[in-house]
Amino acid sequence: MRVVILGSGRGSNAEAILEAQQRGHLGAARVVQILSDQPNAGILALGARFGVPVAFIDPAPFKTKLEGVGEERFIAAVQAAQPDLVVLAGFMRVVKPGFLNAFAGKIINLHPSLLPSFPGLDGIGQAWRRGVKVTGCTVHGVTAEVDGGPIIDQAVVRIEADDTLESLSAKMHAAEHELLPRVIARLSEGAK
Ligand code: GAR
Repeated sequence: MRVVILGSGRGSNAEAILEAQQRGHLGAARVVQILSDQPNAGILALGARFGVPVAFIDPAPFKTKLEGVGEERFIAAVQAAQPDLVVLAGFMRVVKPGFLNAFAGKIINLHPSLLPSFPGLDGIGQAWRRGVKVTGCTVHGVTAEVDGGPIIDQAVVRIEADDTLESLSAKMHAAEHELLPRVIARLSEGAK
């Protein structure tokens, strides 16, 4: 299963996926391309370390969504990698019907909350400020409704009395790093 990862930031989830692949824990999946909409994103540095092609793709003209010529550039770059699965791992842009239709049924997203609670930006901070005692992360299929597609799997993170936003964030990332590679492995083995 050919996997293309899209990300905008640090790339710790892409790193977890690549480490799982190195350890033989990614099932029949292998990462064939990493793409970013941010020229200096940490995720692009993973290419040299893991021997995976990486590229910055100019997302202009929009700031928070992928549409117009930027969307066309992304569609072409993803198509060139012939993916069976497109993984949004911290890709901080709303994907629109052009991209969704080009890879229909093949796009999954990682979100840092137990959807349908706390969709949108800063899922960790939203849960923290609301004072919930249980949060977690979700991997879901991507549809035109932001963070609204079918839920594939979730992991639970408890918020303890002595947690801070920083300690919660660390627990959340650890849960994500375990969940996302596991979901990809299962999908590569034919799970729905
Ligand atoms: C992750 O926490 C992911 O859940 C979140 O961005 C972070 C990326 O971290 N995604 C979203 O908020 C999507 N709306 P990473 O670059 O270290 O993988």
